[in-house]
Amino acid sequence: MCGIVGYTGVHEASPVLVAGLRRLEYRGYDSAGVAIVSEGRVVVRKRAGRVRTLEEALDQEPAAGSCGISHTRWATHGPANDRNAHPHMGGRAGAGAVAVVHNGVIENHATLRAELTADGFTFLSQTDTEVIAHLIARELGDGDGLFQAVQRALPQLEGTYGLAVISARCPGQVIGARLGSPLVIGLGEGEHFLASDALAIAPHTAKVAYLQDGEVVRLGPDDFEIRHRERGSITPRIDRIDWKPDAVELGGHAHYMLKEIHEQPETVHDACRGRLRHAEATAHFGGLNMTPRQLRRVRRVVFAACGTSWHAALVGEYLIERLAHLPVEVEYASEFRYRNAPLDDRTLVFVLSQSGETADTLGALRESKRQGHPTLAIVNTVGSTIAREATGGIFLHCGPEVGVASTKAFTAQVAVLTLLAIHLGRLRHLSFTDGLAAIEAIESIPRALGDVLAKSEPAIRAAAERIAPAKSVLYLGRDLHFPVALEGALKLKEISYIHAEGYPTAEMKHGPIALVDRETPCVFVAPRGVLHAKTLSNVEEVRARHGTIIAVGTEGDESLESISDIFLPIPDVPEIVQPLLAVVPLQLLAYQVALLRGCDIDKPRNLAKSVTVE
Ligand code: AGP
Repeated sequence: MCGIVGYTGVHEASPVLVAGLRRLEYRGYDSAGVAIVSEGRVVVRKRAGRVRTLEEALDQEPAAGSCGISHTRWATHGPANDRNAHPHMGGRAGAGAVAVVHNGVIENHATLRAELTADGFTFLSQTDTEVIAHLIARELGDGDGLFQAVQRALPQLEGTYGLAVISARCPGQVIGARLGSPLVIGLGEGEHFLASDALAIAPHTAKVAYLQDGEVVRLGPDDFEIRHRERGSITPRIDRIDWKPDAVELGGHAHYMLKEIHEQPETVHDACRGRLRHAEATAHFGGLNMTPRQLRRVRRVVFAACGTSWHAALVGEYLIERLAHLPVEVEYASEFRYRNAPLDDRTLVFVLSQSGETADTLGALRESKRQGHPTLAIVNTVGSTIAREATGGIFLHCGPEVGVASTKAFTAQVAVLTLLAIHLGRLRHLSFTDGLAAIEAIESIPRALGDVLAKSEPAIRAAAERIAPAKSVLYLGRDLHFPVALEGALKLKEISYIHAEGYPTAEMKHGPIALVDRETPCVFVAPRGVLHAKTLSNVEEVRARHGTIIAVGTEGDESLESISDIFLPIPDVPEIVQPLLAVVPLQLLAYQVALLRGCDIDKPRNLAKSVTVE
C-alpha cells in the first residue's frame, strides 16, 4: 500500500510531487522516488528511507521538468533499498524508455520476469513492479503512443495495481491505470494530477474523479481521457473534495496521532450531527438505502472488518444485542471473504473501514454483494472504493485520519454503531424512554471526552513509565469493555512494539494469569457497571500474584482505585457509552509509552495506514 503522485502541467513537477508524497507518506514510508521527463529523457531520483531523504537527493541533484510521477513505498517484494525503490525503468539494454510507479501486487511477476529476461530485458531490482515497466516498453516498441502501449501491456498482468507511467517519447503525458488499488485524478487549469488518495491533490484543486477498476487514464496539461478495458471511452463523475485546509496539518501537535486523539470531542459530535431524533427517541441515517420495513425484517447482522475497525464492530455487537436484541457476528474480513459463511436474505451485512480501501474488507463487501446481499458500509473516506461500491451506508464525518494508529475513527465508528443500535432497537422493542436515555447519553460524550483529555495526563505519564520497560502487557475488560481492551492492546503493539494481548477479564483464570508477575503490567478497563463486583475480584486475583495493576475506572470509584497501582479516571456515564471514554486513556497511554521509547509514532515500523494488498 504505497503512495503514488503524478503531475503534468505548467509548474515544475518535482516540488508538486514531493509535497504530494509527504501527504501520502502514511501509506508506506520505506523508500521514495520520482521520475521526471527532462530535456528529452527521463530523470530518476530514488532513495531508501523517508521522503525527506529523497528531498535531500533532489536538492543535490535537481530534476527539472513539468511532467513526472513519484512514489512512497511499503515493500511487498524485495527489501527497502535504493535499487528496489520506485520508479522502475523499462526497456531493452537499459534503454530506459518507460518509468513506472506501482501500488499493488503482480502475482505472475516470476513468469513474466523469466519471459522478459529471455526476450533480452535486464532486471535491476527484486520487485514485482519492474516487469510492468519492461512489458510497457516492449509494447511501446511497436509504435503508437504510451496510452495504447499501457493498454496492451495490462492484460498480461495478474494481480492488483494502481500505477502511473511516463516516457520521454510522450512528453507531457502521464498514464494511470487501476485494478484493485485506488487512484484519483485532479482536474486543474492547465494542469492535471494523479494520486492514490485525494489528500495529495487537495492543496491544488477540489475537482476530482475517482478511477474505477479496469480504467486507464491519459493526462495531458490541458486534457485527459479515460478508457475502460471493456466499456471503451468513459466520461467520469466529477466530485468535489471539501476538506478544511488545516485538516491534514499538525495544528501545533507533536504528532498526528496526538492531534487526532484531541479532535475526538469534535469528531464524536460530528459523527452524531443531524442524526439524533429526540421526538421519536431514535437515530436517523440518510444513506442506508433501506426502509424501516426492510430493517425490521432483518434477523441477523454480520460485520466484516480488519484491525481497529474490527474492534469497533465488536463493540457494535454488544450494543446491538443489548438495544435491539438482534444476533450479531463480527468477522475478520480476510477470513470472511474466503469462508463460505451462510448468509440468508434476512441477514444484513455491514463492512467497516476508515480508509475505505482495505483490500480484505473490500473483498468481503464484493463477496457479500456477489451472493446478492445488500451490503452496507460504515466508512470515513468519502469517494473511497468501499464507499462507492456499498449499496448504502453511514459516513463517520471525522475528517482525514493521518496517524497510522487509528484513534478518532474508532470513537466515531463506536458512536455511529451506538446510533445504529438505537435505530434498530427503536424499530423493534426499545422503549421511547430507553431510546431517549441512550440518545442523551451519547449527547453527553463530547463534553466528557474533553474532561478526560484535560485531566488524565499526570496519571497517564505515571502509567507509561511503568509500561515502557515491560516486555509484555495484558489488557482486560468485561462485556462492552472487552473490545476496548483489545483496542488498547493493539494501540500499544502498533506504536511501541511491546507485545500486548487483550482478554475478557474472566478468561484470565483459564490460562493468561500464568503470565502475571512484577514485569507484566495488567491494564483493566473497568468503569462501574453491572459486572463491577466480579471485575474487582479479578483485580484482586492479579494483585494476589504481585501483578502491577493499571485501571481505567469511573472517577470516584474508591473500591477500584484502592486496589490499583495507577488509576485512570473517566467521568461517570451510562454503560452503553462508556467505551467512547474508556478507550481514550488507552490511546494516550500507548502514545506516551511510544514517546518514552523514542518510537516513530506517526509512522510505526512495518505498518501503513491503508492496507490495499491482501
Ligand atoms: C489501526 O490502528 C490500524 N491502522 C489498522 O489495524 C487498521 O485499523 C486496519 O488496517 C483497518 O483499516 P480500515 O479501517 O481503514 O479498513
